[in-house]
Amino acid sequence: MTAATTPKFRIALVGCGNMANTWVDYAQARGDAELVALVDLNEATARALAEKHHLGGVPIFSDVSAAIGASGANVVFDVTIPDAHEAVTVAALKAGCNVFGEKPLAAGMEQARRMVAAAGQTGHTYAVMQNRRYLPQMHAFRDLVRGSIGTPGFTTANFFIGAHFGGFRDLMDSPLLLDMAIHTFDQARFILGADPVSVYCQEFNPPGSWYAGGAAAVCIFEFEGGQVFSYNGSWCAEGAPTSWEAEWRVMGSTGAAIWDGTNAPYADVVADPEQESFTLDFKRVEAELSHNAPGPEGHFGCLDEMFAALSENRRPETDCTDNIKSLGMVFGAVESARRGEQVML
Ligand SMILES: NC(=O)c1ccc[n+]([C@@H]2O[C@H](COP(=O)([O-])OP(=O)(O)OC[C@H]3O[C@@H](n4cnc5c(N)ncnc54)[C@H](O)[C@@H]3O)[C@@H](O)[C@H]2O)c1
Repeated sequence: MTAATTPKFRIALVGCGNMANTWVDYAQARGDAELVALVDLNEATARALAEKHHLGGVPIFSDVSAAIGASGANVVFDVTIPDAHEAVTVAALKAGCNVFGEKPLAAGMEQARRMVAAAGQTGHTYAVMQNRRYLPQMHAFRDLVRGSIGTPGFTTANFFIGAHFGGFRDLMDSPLLLDMAIHTFDQARFILGADPVSVYCQEFNPPGSWYAGGAAAVCIFEFEGGQVFSYNGSWCAEGAPTSWEAEWRVMGSTGAAIWDGTNAPYADVVADPEQESFTLDFKRVEAELSHNAPGPEGHFGCLDEMFAALSENRRPETDCTDNIKSLGMVFGAVESARRGEQVML
């Protein structure tokens, strides 16, 4: 590539495992970006990724700082394991890069606060992947909740999937809360446009579970203004699986918004506010998906938003300063389960 065509975004990809494939696909689809370094503790993993995506000319490193120094990267994709997120992201921010990283923001709240502080001190962006926000149904559901059912007061999300991963998730503590619930909790904040103030959580391991840690949880979150979000989840639930996006109901003052996590959402709303009877009649309001589509879905949609924010010199929707509130729901739930009492967030 000549100087005249030097791309705006020079990307170092750190962590070349399974999830990195999607991030590489995205970088390769952008006209204004180039992958300039691949970084992994395990060189063979980086080589395999390079081979698969025809990135033979891209240099491979084992350390993020060395990679940035040698390649002149200005953006880092942090797709490492959660325990490595703090070291990788802070090093990249201090080396002058903006960082887009995989969920969860960090492996703990102390690490997360240090990472948010590093972003603030360096003036660079650290934004977190929350791909489950970027679905047309999700945006349509949010619009129904905010526009068709009056004031939301009670939200439920059910997540029941029997996921036989094998590997680290089978051995870790709190696999559902730490590895999956971040998505559903972040969705709740997105849908309601509000933040939680407390959580009570009971975590447990149902009969037949193949996980060592608690693979199921019931959480009651209180949100600003007193509204309640209740989450029922299990990753060892055989039979009648829900969507990975969870199955949602938001009860508002004048109706209910419903989404099964797959099909188009709808609302069932009071037909005539003047009606006087024991139970009221309702009318169905369909979501208008085509008017609500946010553009590309999943990872591509979230990455589009992150890059757009950089170009427009604003904070992305999933900036660390906001996303730490979703992470706080996860660790608040873990803490509540451990202490057996409600935890303020
Ligand atoms: N958004 C989603 O839907 C989704 C789905 C799956 C995984 N993830 C997230 O993606 C991240 C990666 O998951 P994965 O499934 O690809 O894991 P993985 O184990 O397949 O890959 C992680 C890679 O990071 C490398 N690594 C670890 N520490 C490093 C360091 N300090 N420097 C450089 N490389 C390092 C490892 O060697 C490994 O190759 C995790 O945070 C995970 O939670 C997100």
